[in-house]
Amino acid sequence: MKIAIVGCGSRHKMFRDSVVEDYSDKHEIVALCDSNGHRLRLAAEAASQPGTNGVATYLAGDFDRLIAEQKPDTVVVATPDFLHSDYIIRAFEAGCDVICEKPLTIDLTRLKMILDAQARTGRKVMVTFNYRYSPARTQIKELIMSGAIGTVTAVDFRWHLDRVHGADYFRRWHRQKENSGGLLVHKSTHHFDLLNWWLGSVPVDVFASGRRAFYRPEMAVELGLGGRGTRCADCAVASSCDFELNMDGDENLRSLYREAEDEDGYYRDRCVFDADIGIEDTMQAHIRYASGVTANYTLTSYSPWEGLEIKFQGTKGDITHRHVEVHGVFGGERAHAGGDAVTTELHLAGEHPRMLDVPHGEGHHGGADPVMLGYIFDPEGMEPDRFGRASDHVAGGWSILTGIAANMSIETGSAVNIPTMLRARGIKL
Ligand SMILES: NC(=O)c1ccc[n+]([C@@H]2O[C@H](COP(=O)([O-])OP(=O)(O)OC[C@H]3O[C@@H](n4cnc5c(N)ncnc54)[C@H](O)[C@@H]3O)[C@@H](O)[C@H]2O)c1
Repeated sequence: MKIAIVGCGSRHKMFRDSVVEDYSDKHEIVALCDSNGHRLRLAAEAASQPGTNGVATYLAGDFDRLIAEQKPDTVVVATPDFLHSDYIIRAFEAGCDVICEKPLTIDLTRLKMILDAQARTGRKVMVTFNYRYSPARTQIKELIMSGAIGTVTAVDFRWHLDRVHGADYFRRWHRQKENSGGLLVHKSTHHFDLLNWWLGSVPVDVFASGRRAFYRPEMAVELGLGGRGTRCADCAVASSCDFELNMDGDENLRSLYREAEDEDGYYRDRCVFDADIGIEDTMQAHIRYASGVTANYTLTSYSPWEGLEIKFQGTKGDITHRHVEVHGVFGGERAHAGGDAVTTELHLAGEHPRMLDVPHGEGHHGGADPVMLGYIFDPEGMEPDRFGRASDHVAGGWSILTGIAANMSIETGSAVNIPTMLRARGIKL
């Protein structure tokens, strides 16, 4: 497969290094594209194989020339979220398939454009829902599929982002809804996709509340950060702020973002307490699925720890799954949790609760990324996927609809019926 990657920021490395280091006998990166020449050069240096002429690079304005000259089979899209649809559609029209980072896109207008282009061209887009591939999450799918707790009736799902990871969404492009759809789309697309996949159903009604309760100027004052600047690099109180992002002190951040700033003014370390942030940090939703299952969902982004807690109620018992990824943030440093930080308890009616052995995987996102990359780049070398983990435009679409409906519900104060919302926009999934 001839692969072109668009968007050479932090996430593209996973795809780039995987092809270069693990799958170069099967695939080749033929081109890289970014709006920032500095990041483009760094990516090209890292992707170039010894003894070759290197990888062709194109600035964003030359994407069509990239397609014409390099004729990729597949385009990997790893740009900020609001740009996904444009590159997906242009790749489709040029006869390419697409591997797209989550979320597929951020709003109904762009979703409809992607779906129309897919129908018109017949091309494929795979949305890389790496969380589905983490062994612990796959085990939950297997338990539910096996009927271990009978029919699932209700779910309680809480996701906690800590004060380093969670804060990061308030520093840069994610912090405006027009770029990311807010965390209910940008982040929760993973969580709502897991729910859709685990439950084998789709969301119908959503009622949500959300607000920015923590990352606010008032909180900075409360924390004694009254004289704060607009970004960490020139902030007078940075050294006493637990939320400081010291780009000069981190080789990766310095080379990838700090040294690239002059070209596009992309500041990676803007103050998380700025007044003009447009996304929520505290969100709750109640969701009713087509299967009748109901779910309560909570996402916070300033938690003292990071991880998830989920309980599935079923007609025969319940499953409680907990994963502590980071057990605390101390002075801006994250303390990662140890090996037994993932637990799954099965409690059947009339029996004592049982702690199950939870499979662990090596690699990022709880061992999810290497498994997913295997299925993307070497599907023949993997076991047939009986869990249906690969996801296309349909799964990608459903995964953002809960968040889009939740955003609408927050705005209007009313519940949103997704079929009605889709009909009004002429969207069929
Ligand atoms: N699945 C996951 O776990 C996961 C994790 C991180 C990020 N992501 C996703 O990956 C994508 C990229 O995130 P990131 O953290 O790497 O962001 P980033 O800001 O580090 O990188 C984005 C890159 O896109 C480039 N870009 C901006 N405008 C462009 C344009 N018009 N054309 C081409 N390139 C352009 C930027 O210069 C930058 O190099 C996002 O969609 C994000 O949601 C997914």
